[in-house]
Amino acid sequence: MASQAEPGHDIGAPGRTWSVDGADDREVGRPTFGMRWRLWRNRRIASARFRSLMARLPLTRWIAQRKANQLFQLTAGFVHSQILSACVRFGILDYLVDRSLTTAQLATHCQLKPERMRLLLDQAERLGLVVQPHPDLWMLDDAGAVVAADAGLRAMIRHHDALYRDLIDPEALWRADKPDTELRRYWAYVRGDAPNEVTAEQAAPYSLLMRESQAMFADCILASYDFGHHTALLDVGGGDGAFLMAVGRKHTNLRLALFDLPAVAVRAQDHLAETGLLPRSRIHAGDFTTDPLPSDCDCITLLRILCDHDDARVVNILSNLHRHLAPGTTVMVAEAMAGPSEGARLAATYFGIYFLAMGSGRCRSAREIEALLSTAGFQKTQTIATANPLLATIVIARR
Ligand SMILES: C[S@@+](CC[C@H](N)C(=O)[O-])C[C@H]1O[C@@H](n2cnc3c(N)ncnc32)[C@H](O)[C@@H]1O
Repeated sequence: MASQAEPGHDIGAPGRTWSVDGADDREVGRPTFGMRWRLWRNRRIASARFRSLMARLPLTRWIAQRKANQLFQLTAGFVHSQILSACVRFGILDYLVDRSLTTAQLATHCQLKPERMRLLLDQAERLGLVVQPHPDLWMLDDAGAVVAADAGLRAMIRHHDALYRDLIDPEALWRADKPDTELRRYWAYVRGDAPNEVTAEQAAPYSLLMRESQAMFADCILASYDFGHHTALLDVGGGDGAFLMAVGRKHTNLRLALFDLPAVAVRAQDHLAETGLLPRSRIHAGDFTTDPLPSDCDCITLLRILCDHDDARVVNILSNLHRHLAPGTTVMVAEAMAGPSEGARLAATYFGIYFLAMGSGRCRSAREIEALLSTAGFQKTQTIATANPLLATIVIARR
């Protein structure tokens, strides 16, 4: 039996069983070689003397430094995002588009003391947001150029203030079932059983954020899937119609339709009218978990929809679609999905916490989405990789 002295650690001797929790000493089987190696290795790494030796030996020094830097990145991540947030809030990155400016010029623009401006610019330079081609002259660096060019990214960075406030007490957040958080109030449709009653005031902030953040997302989807094979597209939970606009401009013969909650359908109508696409589009209002959806489109899209909801509700949504769509309809699910690539791992780490704070939904793998589609009765599921798994992976299926 495992030792009581060190719960869960007694896997040293060959043939011994081990416990996951010293308190109940449950037998869970023999440790594998990999587990023994990991324990041995962890004990070495936990030793300050061992780490000090590794940091001094020429052959291991670079590994020790890399590991120490990685750990520091983990510890300091919030500081990094706050530097980015300050740059966005002061409008530094937009102001630097297509020009170079001195610290004094930027300080005047941001109404900051020059020494504070200098400190912020130094930090932004360390994070790859700005560069100094000459002493005290600043230009955008690669990451800064992307943030400056993408209003949706800037909107998301500003929106993170609410997320960070929700994360302030991690223990309370992890213990709560349905946390009373800002994000849960913000995404009004995840609360309560009557999403149709979401008001125009509640729908406006999230719909605007989704509209602003569609540009990169739509590019990613349109580069990975050819909607030219279809004659009519229904974007379910299509928000203000930003994706319809992008796909409509690329495929000029495609008939367009959108389905969303009543408060959002009105916004989509106005937005598509402003952009001249309304004559090509039909707007439907309703609750996609219960209401009938039009069955005359040969393709429907669910973009950034399923991730917002728990599994039971996803099955409701998909079953309702299955009930109303015509046989042969292509269903596309596209959102950030968990997976082995670096982008997918980053996305899953981020969205895992975001949905925890929202009290609904999760970041699923493509395989999990395929399984949910199959449970609802869809067939021929297929996963399509995109160029940017941080933003989206695509799963398609047939009704
Ligand atoms: C995260 S947003 C995604 C919007 C859009 N697809 C995009 O990618 O920008 C989720 C959308 O689903 C809509 N929605 C949520 N619950 C709904 C329901 N029960 N019936 C219909 N639409 C719903 C919301 O109003 C919102 O527009």
